[in-house]
Amino acid sequence: MEEQALTALILRQREAAAAVTILSLSLPNKKRSLQRKKKILYWIAAVSAAFVILAVVLLAVLVPRRFSQNQSQLQSQSINTTVVTTTTFAIITTGRTNAAATSTTTNTNTNTSTNTTEPSPGKILNLSAWELQLPIAGNMSRVAIITPPALNSVSNQFFQPAPAGLSAVDFYTPVTGVTTSDSLNPRTELRQLNQDGSLAFWSYQGSYALQVILTVELFPANVSNGAGGVIVCQLFSAAVINGPEYVVRAYPNFVQLERGSNANGSVDKQVLVPNYTAGQQMKITFSVMNGKLTAAVDIGTTVTTTIDSADDYYFKAGSYCQTQESADNGCKVRIFSIQLYGFPGALAFPPN
Ligand SMILES: *[C@@H]1O[C@H](CO)[C@@H](O)[C@H](O)[C@H]1NC(C)=O
Ligand SMILES: *[C@@H]1O[C@H](CO)[C@@H](O)[C@H](O)[C@H]1NC(C)=O
Ligand SMILES: *[C@@H]1O[C@H](CO)[C@@H](O)[C@H](O)[C@H]1NC(C)=O
Ligand SMILES: *[C@@H]1O[C@H](CO)[C@@H](O)[C@H](O)[C@H]1NC(C)=O
Ligand SMILES: *[C@@H]1O[C@H](CO)[C@@H](O)[C@H](O)[C@H]1NC(C)=O
Ligand SMILES: *[C@@H]1O[C@H](CO)[C@@H](O)[C@H](O)[C@H]1NC(C)=O
Ligand SMILES: *[C@@H]1O[C@H](CO)[C@@H](O)[C@H](O)[C@H]1NC(C)=O
Ligand SMILES: *[C@@H]1O[C@H](CO)[C@@H](O)[C@H](O)[C@H]1NC(C)=O
Repeated sequence: MEEQALTALILRQREAAAAVTILSLSLPNKKRSLQRKKKILYWIAAVSAAFVILAVVLLAVLVPRRFSQNQSQLQSQSINTTVVTTTTFAIITTGRTNAAATSTTTNTNTNTSTNTTEPSPGKILNLSAWELQLPIAGNMSRVAIITPPALNSVSNQFFQPAPAGLSAVDFYTPVTGVTTSDSLNPRTELRQLNQDGSLAFWSYQGSYALQVILTVELFPANVSNGAGGVIVCQLFSAAVINGPEYVVRAYPNFVQLERGSNANGSVDKQVLVPNYTAGQQMKITFSVMNGKLTAAVDIGTTVTTTIDSADDYYFKAGSYCQTQESADNGCKVRIFSIQLYGFPGALAFPPN
């Protein structure tokens, strides 16, 4: 849309410049030199405008690329450090902006070293369309993020294979973890990418789905209805609200679909699983089709709601711990399978 507006602007300026040329040819000499000056000024203005537009476009294209390059370069060394508060990555956390990490809850006792004798999560789940956000500080006061291909070989205390015998990955978030500036709550969470590694943003009009098979292994100690719990997957709204459009949030005894605070969907909160218990496996299917979101849980019910139109979206999944307490505990979500549908290179829509 922005590009179209800019193109229209350039076209209008060209038309105006052409009009000035035609006009000046039909004018007497006296007026013609005045017109020539005007014409020169006009062209100077048009050329300057073109440079500004070019600069804006280049910035828009190059800045995100620079961030992701920094991320991949920094992965191996950053994940090796033991005191992560000084470890740094560039990060893009939410929406189109680079959200800074808060330092209000800083983890000083964090070992993110990779256990090389252990298989990494990337050998268990196909993580090629995801980047990982961690509850620790990253570069430039942002939370740490790990992108592919480094993500394939990363294993640490927040993100590691489930205990022997299980083909699953544990996403652990300490309640005291570092948060993004947009949130009071820490996360160990995957954020959807495109095939080429760029951040995914897709239209509400498409047909796309995320299917995750998971168990919630550990809830934060401080939970009550309406507070606490853990968000296990999100439909994230990029442009309009730059926040969650809908989330699936698990509490120690139930699971529900919740609307983001600024979104306009038809459902506010609706229970998906009325009788959840920690460790119980569920298959969550989050499908978007023609501006509607359907959330289905195999051990519960299905809810369909509208989502905000004219917005871009992406999926997230993991353990986003919804608590602000300072006690020494956390949230753990165990993911057995995560699949995307309807995207280039992904499985065909709809999922089973
Ligand atoms: C990571 O740690 C290992 C073992 O401590 C060391 O051999 C390696 O050089 C470190 N890598 C980086 C990039 O610091
Ligand atoms: C960090 O974790 C690695 C692998 O899990 C281990 O080898 C190392 O001893 C740990 N370091 C500290 C300081 O705990
Ligand atoms: C690394 O992983 C192996 C295999 O799971 C395990 O036996 C070992 O204790 C781990 N080492 C550390 C330091 O966590
Ligand atoms: C953090 O990112 C900046 C800018 O890209 C870079 O100059 C700096 O070296 C990075 N910090 C570390 C510790 O790698
Ligand atoms: C929600 O709807 C109101 C009224 O139609 C509108 O002003 C607002 O921008 C909408 N919010 C979003 C996030 O779409
Ligand atoms: C949970 O509730 C559903 C009905 O809502 C019921 O069919 C199911 O048996 C219950 N499961 C457990 C473990 O209680
Ligand atoms: C528990 O959570 C509530 C709501 O998030 C918060 O107001 C309260 O301070 C927390 N209690 C503790 C002990 O952290
Ligand atoms: C992993 O996922 C990507 C993107 O969804 C897909 O293109 C690729 O084929 C998958 N790889 C495997 C081995 O399934």
